[in-house]
Amino acid sequence: MDKTQNDMTPADAAAALRWLSEMGADEIIGENPVNRLVAPAPRPAPAAARAAIPGPAPAAAPVVVVAPGATATAFRSLTEIEAALAGFDACPLKKTATRLCYADGNPQARVMLIGEAPGREEDIEGRPFVGRSGQLLDRMLAAVGLSRTAQDRESSVFITNVIFWRPPGNRTPTEAETQMCLPFLVRTIELQQPDVIVCLGATPAHRLTAKADGILKLRGKWVTANVSGRNIPLLPTLHPAYLLRQPAQKRLAWRDMLMLRQMLDAH
Ligand code: URA
Repeated sequence: MDKTQNDMTPADAAAALRWLSEMGADEIIGENPVNRLVAPAPRPAPAAARAAIPGPAPAAAPVVVVAPGATATAFRSLTEIEAALAGFDACPLKKTATRLCYADGNPQARVMLIGEAPGREEDIEGRPFVGRSGQLLDRMLAAVGLSRTAQDRESSVFITNVIFWRPPGNRTPTEAETQMCLPFLVRTIELQQPDVIVCLGATPAHRLTAKADGILKLRGKWVTANVSGRNIPLLPTLHPAYLLRQPAQKRLAWRDMLMLRQMLDAH
């Protein structure tokens, strides 16, 4: 993270500070109290400092097994999936949406973020998380040295959704619509091969963990998703749109971001 922080542009650093301030930080203090009456102890190396954050609980046994289904298995690249979605007329959401909204970020990234469904801005632009909640998401990521525009695998993210077309009026997608999109999402995970998955909100967390608990119960706990035989650590967290409505909950999302940071640093 430190290399990334050193590489941050002033705009990235300002965005990270804004996010920290929004989630309630009003001063900067060290990890440990300092006795100023004795000679200062040498500063811990950044990696050692990070080790002071409570470690991620060992990932639990696989909780869900998902596979893409025969049709989606045929796609050999993310580009092929996007092209197939563009020609896929079975999902009724396509008829009312302006554009397909498949994915954004770096296909080589270690981290895959999965949201729910495109909203109004995403429908217009054809990219996930470009509206207000996406801007908040970018600030949350920047605070832990991650960005969708980074070119390197370590500090970039790949972002997609469970649903690839905007539901009219942002209504909840039906089970049938979700089932139609799911094979494409699972094949995306297979091909992108993330080291970790972060689920933004309940919809992706329920799909990929097969747990039905509320997101406030699921968040902040690593679980293991078994995607087509590959175990992937998965962290549910709060959706940025929820954080915009409930800003006091940003401190929980911040804890989750630190857990993500620590998992990446440890592996
Ligand atoms: N909310 C989501 O879940 N996904 C988006 O792409 C935008 C908003």
